[in-house]
Amino acid sequence: MENYETYEYDVLVVGAGGAGLRAVIAAREAGCSVGLVCKSLLGKAHTVMAEGGVAAALNNMTNPDGTKEGDSWEVHFVDTMKGGAFLNNWRMVEIFAKEAPERVLELEQYGAVFDRTPEGLIAQRPFGGHRYRRLNHVGDRTGLELIRTLQDKAVGVGMNVHMEVTLTRLLKDGDRVVGAFGYYRSSGKFVVFRARAVVLATGGWGRMYMYTSNSWEGTGDGVMMACEAGAELIDMEMVQFHPTGMIWPPGMRGILVTEGVRGEGGILLNSKGERFMFNPEYMPPLYKGQFAETPEEAERWLVDKKNNRRPPELLPRDVVARAIYREVEAGRGSKHGGVYLDVTHRGAEYIKRKLPSMYEQFHALGNLDITKEPMEVYPTIHYAMGGIRVEPETGATSVPGLFAAGEVAGGLHGANRLGGNSLSDIIVFGKRAGDGAAAYAKTVEHGTIDPAQIEEEVDYLLAPLEAQSGENPYQIHQELQEAMQKHCMIARTEKGLLTCLEKIQELRRRAQNLKVDGDRFFNPGWHAARDIRFMLKTSEVIVRCALERQESRGAQWRLDYPDRDDAFWGKVNLIVTQVGDQFRIERRPLPEMPAELKALIEKYGK
Ligand code: FUM
Repeated sequence: MENYETYEYDVLVVGAGGAGLRAVIAAREAGCSVGLVCKSLLGKAHTVMAEGGVAAALNNMTNPDGTKEGDSWEVHFVDTMKGGAFLNNWRMVEIFAKEAPERVLELEQYGAVFDRTPEGLIAQRPFGGHRYRRLNHVGDRTGLELIRTLQDKAVGVGMNVHMEVTLTRLLKDGDRVVGAFGYYRSSGKFVVFRARAVVLATGGWGRMYMYTSNSWEGTGDGVMMACEAGAELIDMEMVQFHPTGMIWPPGMRGILVTEGVRGEGGILLNSKGERFMFNPEYMPPLYKGQFAETPEEAERWLVDKKNNRRPPELLPRDVVARAIYREVEAGRGSKHGGVYLDVTHRGAEYIKRKLPSMYEQFHALGNLDITKEPMEVYPTIHYAMGGIRVEPETGATSVPGLFAAGEVAGGLHGANRLGGNSLSDIIVFGKRAGDGAAAYAKTVEHGTIDPAQIEEEVDYLLAPLEAQSGENPYQIHQELQEAMQKHCMIARTEKGLLTCLEKIQELRRRAQNLKVDGDRFFNPGWHAARDIRFMLKTSEVIVRCALERQESRGAQWRLDYPDRDDAFWGKVNLIVTQVGDQFRIERRPLPEMPAELKALIEKYGK
């Protein structure tokens, strides 16, 4: 067994997006020593892909008659439950809606520079599924500003950062997580972190699909490490297809086009020039009567939001993504197989001021001036609603010593996340997980690191380098992406899902015998060999859960079970655990919602 570096912390935070950074700040402020591990460079996180804003009911916006719009945590609670098709953990949503405003104002105290209203308050824009203007924003680069701010603050409170380190295994002492093991991506050297508590904030897992807004880090390491360590996962079938990703040019396919474009008045058109979101077939019963029914009414809403209903382009993401899919399937798609997103009517000055990054993105990558021409868009994999099951108050997982926050954790968003709720999720639950981990760390001694666990993982990691022959991990990855994109995308069927599962099982068998050339220095092929094993298992869980849930709800659209079944499936979460090398799925009843919250849904849900 070769030597490896060992570091020791009270709290180890894995992942340097918004949730990880907010957890660092909380744990440091609670007096703990903190180590932060990131797979990439500090500051490069999927958080920046939440461009349009951070949702929090500050109620800053004013109607033309001078009255306030009337937003509150209660309305945010109801919008989020409704958007999630009521599969959400109600207690998480309650905490979230109540605490989001405080966390956003705190960001401002940390130095975030938000756009302003004429009165000098933080400016808020409309977004899909939010009844009021609720997205506190910095142009269309809100996530970037959030990361910049939290990073500055975290550096200020003090932490040890370990950049470009991939963790591959959580280390356990009995039932308890006591550290983590991994390697430096540059040198391939192994490293052990000993910690009283570990917070996973590793984000999502879009890379098993061909077209995604996620960058290369999103391979499901965190969620699978947790599952392998015994943690429960929840509702893994729920993967979000953001309605508007770039579709052209081909190399740019999947890159996000912020929902902020529709928030600022952008409209969706098919090849016949029809504003297809007005098609009553696309309107879910729960939202009937709440959205504009004619383009003229939607136009008036741009000026007077109080007396007019929202445009249907601002329905929740699952609804808009399905409508785009159906338009393209019906042969009414755009030139390159998507639909058109047109914001030209807002004028060049306005577009460049409110959507500067979109203007630049299309100009630089697509040679297109969005102030003059419509964009072409198609749904792209953006987010995972499912994830590690956590306790709402503390972010504790079902494994002692292990906490989780942000996208890697499940439960808050139910079957579909509303845009902008991810940024408020990470600051609310990043703090709670940091607090929870710090409180736990103070009650325990460091556990014992078991060298046998490390040796086993080292053997597993080195096998592809030592093999004489075997499969190429990139080939396996490509075949996985093709299968997931074809069979586990927006529209799902039992036949397609079973084909996908069979393919994943074949790939898992083949991935037992990988071969990569070279050594451990600067070797992306070797990294790919470990990543693909996490991706294969995560994909298998997604597909198995999608097969299990025989209904359509949120991001799960089953063509063979097109209806939402509130009487049965609406009452259960799917809980996944790993047993041996297999996965067990349990249908667990949703926790009972208290009467006062049910009353809010009655009051504001219509
Ligand atoms: O469209 C967007 O700006 C993405 C926001 C989000 O995912 O929350």
